[in-house]
Amino acid sequence: MMEIISDAKTWRALMTQWRHDGDHIGFCPTMGALHAGHLSLVEHAREQCDRVGVSIFVNPTQFNQATDLAAYPRPIDADLAMMQAAGVDAVFVPEVHEIYPVYPEPTAVRVEVGELGQRFEGADRPGHFSGMATVVSILLNVTQAHAAYFGEKDFQQLVIVNALVRDLMIDTKIVGVPTLREAGGLAMSSRNVRLSEQGRFEARVIIQALQVAQEAALHGGSVGQVERALRDHLATCADLRVSYAQIVDPVSLLPVSPEVRHGNYRALVAGVIEGVRLLDNAEVRFPPS
Ligand code: PAF
Repeated sequence: MMEIISDAKTWRALMTQWRHDGDHIGFCPTMGALHAGHLSLVEHAREQCDRVGVSIFVNPTQFNQATDLAAYPRPIDADLAMMQAAGVDAVFVPEVHEIYPVYPEPTAVRVEVGELGQRFEGADRPGHFSGMATVVSILLNVTQAHAAYFGEKDFQQLVIVNALVRDLMIDTKIVGVPTLREAGGLAMSSRNVRLSEQGRFEARVIIQALQVAQEAALHGGSVGQVERALRDHLATCADLRVSYAQIVDPVSLLPVSPEVRHGNYRALVAGVIEGVRLLDNAEVRFPPS
């Protein structure tokens, strides 16, 4: 029977009990509105751990607009049913004051992210990654899981969470889970439902462009040439407004010099189709030196 817990003290006690029982704990933090991508996090956790805990918490401090926060879907009954069917052992569903006792006043202490959080998704959303890193620190502290699962789709988030546990010495292993894709290759996201059939069809240009980049790298192109191939392919879709398309170092997220021809990097893409912001990324392997 899946346990549903809303207070942090009870959640912490259950996690402590599991650890005392010698169980390996896997944890999947979410903001609810769960879909197949989240199920894939849970499946990875179930394969690798004895017990799986999931949190569902719409974190207000990572939203820039009050309207976005208010409009965020909260289908809690459907989410709980999905987690129960997926074999989750316990779900943590705290109210906002359980996590932030003085909300809407800011907490006295907050996690700052620095450079890693200012570029790409952070550029237009000041404070977003600080809010994300703060809540992830709280959730990892209260759970103290052996492993925590994050989707590779939000690659910048995954990089920041890895930096967070490294720099704050949090004793939880971070596991990146490969992006789940729809039939045409579009990365799964709760935003995809807002695309028309035509928009969904056109959005496949993103995964195709990433594949073009992967091929170009394997065939001996330089980073500059591969980036050009990536952008040229994206430009074949007139309805896509590209926010960024760049090859970066997978740990620092810094751009890679255009003349580089060796090594493994990450191509990051974000763009808007029909007013829907779409993110995707892929590893790009150049021949070894
Ligand atoms: O990716 C998400 O759903 C959120 O950013 C996370 C990691 C649950 C923190 O609120």
